[in-house]
Amino acid sequence: MVKMQVKLGQVTLRNPVVLAAGTAGVMGEIGDAIDLSKIGAITTKSITQLPRNGNSPIRMATLANGMLNAIGLANEGIDSFIQNQAPMAATIDTTIIGSVAGDSIDSYVSVASAMDSVDGIDLVEINVSCPNTSDGLEFGGCPKRLTSLLNEIRPALSRCGMLVKLSVAPGDIRPHAQAAIESGADALTLINTIPALAIDVETKTTAISRGVGGASGAVIHPVALRVVSDIYNDVAKDAGIPIIGTGGTMHWKDAAEFILAGATAVGIGTASFVNPALSLKILQGLTSWVKRQGCQSITELVGSVKLP
Ligand SMILES: Cc1cc2nc3c(=O)[nH]c(=O)nc-3n(C[C@H](O)[C@H](O)[C@H](O)COP(=O)(O)O)c2cc1C
Repeated sequence: MVKMQVKLGQVTLRNPVVLAAGTAGVMGEIGDAIDLSKIGAITTKSITQLPRNGNSPIRMATLANGMLNAIGLANEGIDSFIQNQAPMAATIDTTIIGSVAGDSIDSYVSVASAMDSVDGIDLVEINVSCPNTSDGLEFGGCPKRLTSLLNEIRPALSRCGMLVKLSVAPGDIRPHAQAAIESGADALTLINTIPALAIDVETKTTAISRGVGGASGAVIHPVALRVVSDIYNDVAKDAGIPIIGTGGTMHWKDAAEFILAGATAVGIGTASFVNPALSLKILQGLTSWVKRQGCQSITELVGSVKLP
């Protein structure tokens, strides 16, 4: 038997497969389709202080090798989440990561501290990387502002570990990752969707109403892999901070690549839209691969790619 458990801060996941924010329902509705007790962790939809309708339709489009979305953080707001969703958390048999978004330091702090009070949520993920709202990158795009934000959120978490989800949109995100770690991040989630455009050539309009949206799925995997490798080698490894490698994992080999590049866990998003059971198939393939590698634990393989 190989050990598939991995640690994010003080929290042990039963395996490294994490369902990514916004792709598994608000609070694990995907549990209607798959057995969540086999999954390492699920992430909630990003929740903001006030309800948000998100962007106008059309908000999603299919790409040749992925999808484009500009949902715009549509969610019910933290009060409704606490009343209607939070009571379910303790009944879901896996680690739950509460995803937090906002447009000001105060709003992030109030949502994060509300999440921290929910029995069954053990980690919060600070989403500072939404490309689909006018202010989604306000904090994630600038290391100084990110530090100010996280320095207020960290003390508001009395129980939960803090994950920080970064975007590649600012370019080189090594300073942003460094700032997150110095501000007390227990893990980094890399990456969110990548700003992208698709055009309907017959109607000569953009495929989604907002124009630019966030690309996800196989098309972004090599970019996500490069970012995980850079951040692991240049920032996170020496600090001992784990990474959830997220972006275009459709097959167990994509997940294995993330582990070799330096990820401790792997986020699955778009694959769940193709088939909700793909995450379990990816876990199976990953487990067999660890066995074939002759390892006792998947952690032995983290960052073990031979880089040139
Ligand atoms: C429809 C959709 C909604 C998403 N909503 C959120 C969200 O609310 N919060 C967040 O942090 N990321 C959100 N994401 C980004 C995913 O969590 C993930 O980072 C991204 O899709 C890349 O992974 P993938 O290629 O496996 O999908 C969303 C992605 C999609 C496709």
